[in-house]
Amino acid sequence: RRAGFSPAVVIGTGYGAAVTALRLGEAGVPTVMLEMGRLWDTPADDGTVFSGMLAPDKRSMWFKTRTEAPLASFLWIDVVNRDIERYPGVLDRVGFGDMSVYVGRGVGGGSLVNGAMAVTPKRDYFEEILPEVDADEMYRTYFPRANAALGVNRIDPAWFETCESYKYARVSRRHADRAGLTTTFVPSVYDFDYLRREEAGEVPRSALASEVIYGNNHGKRSLDKTYLAAALGTGNVTIRTMSEVRAIRRQPDGTYALAVRERDDTGAEVATTELGARHLFLGAGSLGSTELLVRARETGALPELSDEVGRCWGTNGNVMFGRANHVWDVTGRTQSGMPALGIDAWDDPEHPVFAEIAPMPAGLELWVSLYLAITKNPERGHFSYDAATDSARLHWSADQGTPTIAAAKALFDKVNRANRTIYRHDLFGDTRSFENRFTYHPLGGVVLGRATDLHGRVRGYPNLYVTDGSLIPGSTGVNPFVTITALAERNVERVLAEDFA
Ligand code: FDA
Repeated sequence: RRAGFSPAVVIGTGYGAAVTALRLGEAGVPTVMLEMGRLWDTPADDGTVFSGMLAPDKRSMWFKTRTEAPLASFLWIDVVNRDIERYPGVLDRVGFGDMSVYVGRGVGGGSLVNGAMAVTPKRDYFEEILPEVDADEMYRTYFPRANAALGVNRIDPAWFETCESYKYARVSRRHADRAGLTTTFVPSVYDFDYLRREEAGEVPRSALASEVIYGNNHGKRSLDKTYLAAALGTGNVTIRTMSEVRAIRRQPDGTYALAVRERDDTGAEVATTELGARHLFLGAGSLGSTELLVRARETGALPELSDEVGRCWGTNGNVMFGRANHVWDVTGRTQSGMPALGIDAWDDPEHPVFAEIAPMPAGLELWVSLYLAITKNPERGHFSYDAATDSARLHWSADQGTPTIAAAKALFDKVNRANRTIYRHDLFGDTRSFENRFTYHPLGGVVLGRATDLHGRVRGYPNLYVTDGSLIPGSTGVNPFVTITALAERNVERVLAEDFA
């Protein structure tokens, strides 16, 4: 057991963590980041860093023996998943009975595996979910700051109309138009100029080589290329990989002591180290940060943590489903793995839905229109502590997902009626057509203004902060990483000004 100390420690390397580390580093604060996953920068024997989606290998998933892709089957046959070796791969699926949560593992967190959709929430909905946050300030300062630092860019609309890569999106748009629905371009952190050159055959393919969910070898501005590169560039930030924080204690002098488990690529523990911190920032994501605090409260390590810790968790109303296309509605063999278009029905008074037109990049024509919809589901889950496994358990029941399906179905029944099409029933392992037993967008658990103050300071514990998706009360109405990033920018600015003086 080795011991060490750093004035500031940030747990995790996802959006909230990366923002925090950059701003601490710029302010001259020596900062250590602890990440349980690997650093993804070294090509394997096949010359690539990540394995693709069509032939996933051990790099795809976090210590599993078979991949667990969200689309479980095609024509009810499990053609999608593959046996793999146990390895600290980049995507994890954490199962809790009726709900599975997908998260990224590695330096960059979710930015390594996500679809790169970079959407600023609608202002009136942001005001509804976080009414105590000054929206003027967010929309004037922090959303623009986040968008700039993340490298958000927009597709060239003229190219979109003629390219092969988004034929599938144009088909879905036509179907939405017939039902009177509105579509909108979705900004991205995938470099659309690079994508254009992929289609022109000028550069190695990534989005056009079916790369999504298990990492992109090119084109994506993941956090390791933006915020984290800048953080390391300050000279004040270091990142320790394969280092999972297991426990947090408060010392008599008010500093924090962390128990850190270091593992090798087989998963074997190689060391347990202790690291001290004066200022401790939790950026381990909605599942990770909530678990650390629930465990700390229930084991008596941080007994003053409020009852709000572990509450108000949501799926952002996620649901995935496919529609069967007519034979003449071909979507093309080359589908960009990075979505560029959404159906925006968020202002529908009864069934607010924002549906991303998702690719099915199998390299062949499948006659499917796929969607990942975000709906306004008011249900919330909560976490308890399971002493036997020393882990936090999410409580979310199947019936809590009902409003999600009702909203998506109400809207897409209209699309089907207008186009004389039907839903697919063969994509999720059984005959269901709506899959809401997983989420890509876990949010909440340590909500801003409830479990923390209005800037992410954990109630009851000075110099302890939460910086990630745990702060958002279960829903943002759009894909969440821009909201998480902007909120972290806002909070760290205040914390640096007031708590580091
Ligand atoms: P995030 O989850 O990014 O990072 C947490 C990090 O902490 C991880 O690297 C984890 O390994 C590490 N960690 C956890 N516990 C730890 C511990 N105890 N010790 C040390 N390290 C620990 N969003 C969006 O806006 N647009 C999109 O297109 C998509 N698409 C998408 C696709 C897929 C497949 C997924 C899984 C997710 C998305 N998302 C998305 C969601 C988005 O990626 C997600 O909301 C953010 O990554 C969450 O950012 P956080 O900062 O909360 O944590």
